[in-house]
Amino acid sequence: MPVKPTETDSDVSAEKPVTIHHGVDELRAYRAGLDGTVALIPTMGALHEGHLQHIRQCRPLADHVIVSIFVNPTQFTQSDDFQAYPRTLEVDIKACAQAGAACVFTPDADGMYPADQVGVEIDVPAVSEVLEGVDRPGHFQGVCRVVTKLLNIVRPDMVSFGRKDYQQLCIIKAVVNDLMMPVRVVEVPTVREADGLAMSSRNRRLDAEQRKRALGLFKALCAAKRLVEEDGETDPQAVEQAMRSVMESHQVRVGYAVVRHPKTLSELSCIEPVLTGGVIALVAGQVGKVRLIDNMLLGGN
Ligand code: PAF
Repeated sequence: MPVKPTETDSDVSAEKPVTIHHGVDELRAYRAGLDGTVALIPTMGALHEGHLQHIRQCRPLADHVIVSIFVNPTQFTQSDDFQAYPRTLEVDIKACAQAGAACVFTPDADGMYPADQVGVEIDVPAVSEVLEGVDRPGHFQGVCRVVTKLLNIVRPDMVSFGRKDYQQLCIIKAVVNDLMMPVRVVEVPTVREADGLAMSSRNRRLDAEQRKRALGLFKALCAAKRLVEEDGETDPQAVEQAMRSVMESHQVRVGYAVVRHPKTLSELSCIEPVLTGGVIALVAGQVGKVRLIDNMLLGGN
């Protein structure tokens, strides 16, 4: 089903119609007919500028960009979160067309998880049981499972993941590398609002006052960056404490504020030994009912 981009689109190269497929077999047949390279952008919809950046970054890298939109039930730990997840399919499809995607794949849960099949678990325990994994047991297993399915259905040459969900990115890279999957992982930098707030589908649930408080996450990361890069701080605990203080001063309820190894997310006793590759500062905090995450690489060359 082709959907034309709207006339307001100023990008002339984006004027091709986008193809929409719902069925797994339909998508496989479409994929089999494509010449050239394919990039897959897995999403759960409710697309914002950050997602569109994935399309823009992948377009020059691949001949065809396929965006999947699937609110994956196996990665939700609370069924009301799954029900409440925003679903904006029509708007999303238009946005994909405007940004230049060739195809949108929107399977349904029965197609992705046929009832008569025995389920499989894919896990990266060392990286998935910390931080986000603590309060959301099973979340990353659900992500790994659906991403593996999508990779097997689409068989892309490359797949993009955002640095915004840093832990997810580390886990997917581990799956792809350890299982020797023939796909390149394209990392897309976090897209921020003018004042620094990381773009997220959850930001739309913040009122004006909460929106100001939410900036505490970004400011905490900036404080950590200054401490490590300008003041030469090497004690992770000192940096973590500084991040907590900034978040608390913005009335953000701190989930975690940590400095970790950039690949394994393991704890560090000293920042200096790994600084050549940088260390990663990660924060999570609650503003009202909205839980936000963000991260920033500190140091590195
Ligand atoms: O990051 C997301 O939106 C989801 O976790 C993903 C990768 C699309 C899997 O459902």
